[in-house]
Amino acid sequence: MIEHQEGSANFLANLSGKDKGPGKIKGVFYNPSMKFSRDLNVEFAKTLNFDGLFLDGMAASGIRGIRLALESNFNVDFCDTSKLAIETINDNLKLNNLTANVFHDDVQNVVKRKKYDWIDIDPFGTPAPYLNSIIENVNNNGILGIAATDTAVLCGAKPSVCFKRYGAYSMKRVAAKEVGVRILLGKIQTLAKKNGRSIEPLLSYSEGHHLRVFLRVVNERNITLKWLNNKMEVSDSEVKDSAGPIWLENIINPEFIPDKCEGQLGKFFEILKKEAHGPPGLFDINDMTRDAQVGQTPRKLKIVESLESEGFFASVSIFSPLGIKTNAPHQARTQAVKNAQSL
Ligand SMILES: C[S@@+](CC[C@H](N)C(=O)[O-])C[C@H]1O[C@@H](n2cnc3c(N)ncnc32)[C@H](O)[C@@H]1O
Repeated sequence: MIEHQEGSANFLANLSGKDKGPGKIKGVFYNPSMKFSRDLNVEFAKTLNFDGLFLDGMAASGIRGIRLALESNFNVDFCDTSKLAIETINDNLKLNNLTANVFHDDVQNVVKRKKYDWIDIDPFGTPAPYLNSIIENVNNNGILGIAATDTAVLCGAKPSVCFKRYGAYSMKRVAAKEVGVRILLGKIQTLAKKNGRSIEPLLSYSEGHHLRVFLRVVNERNITLKWLNNKMEVSDSEVKDSAGPIWLENIINPEFIPDKCEGQLGKFFEILKKEAHGPPGLFDINDMTRDAQVGQTPRKLKIVESLESEGFFASVSIFSPLGIKTNAPHQARTQAVKNAQSL
């Protein structure tokens, strides 16, 4: 095992990630490419002024919970099914002068025994098998942080598995990842409803090979899952070429997006904050250009500027480098591409 440093934490773990493939190592998993996800978690946590009890439910080396304890002043419990992970978390707590409860158990058992105000699950692959127990057991108004790395399933490459696993049809192309997040939120809302509860998404995103949602579990509200077609039109029932049934309410609450971050994370938050106000779905700038018959695709920001100058909502998106989120109708989108050429 190697000693690493990330944020304010020093810790021991086995390196995983690109070369080795997540989950394929023996020992305690640490993927440095997920640092961005943990940096984001730390900064997002600061905006919530959270003072409850947090469970790092699939902790591996414990790096997520340790960083939240050190950098966001969280009170954290840890849990993992791996004995080696538990030994390592205990060593890592000592290395960082922290004390905490560490449970060698399945997260589904831990949440039945003890009440938490925030539960994080970060599985290898799909979170689907764990969703019901964490939704059922988290405290009222508690928060869930849920990661999914089964992106092929959620984002259009394996539609039949998606339907079986999440009860929804996925979408290919530019809006695939945003729709993936909406499928995950739809599944969570369906399970929450079965437990007499509802969800309120706080922050949702895709990055690299994973999707992640943060949401609050609240008293039951009247929410209906809907469908989104290839033209980004919402309908109450299934129509041809549509994804659904999915969560078509807001997926990001701009109030909780940090606004004082620098670098890559700062830019990411800036885009999330803007696109939070837009309608569901994305339009592909290359499709828009083909419809406008203008040859080369103008720069994305020029198209956004052009749409905004006509009074429409328009934003780039963290969900796709080719996507624009806008409420402009087809003709206005086509005209905006033409206008963008002269900007
Ligand atoms: C992807 S790793 C977690 C990475 C970690 N959160 C981080 O930020 O580095 C998944 C971990 O979940 C653990 N795990 C798998 N199934 C579990 C379960 N049902 N309950 C608790 N832990 C579980 C695995 O042993 C593994 O350590």
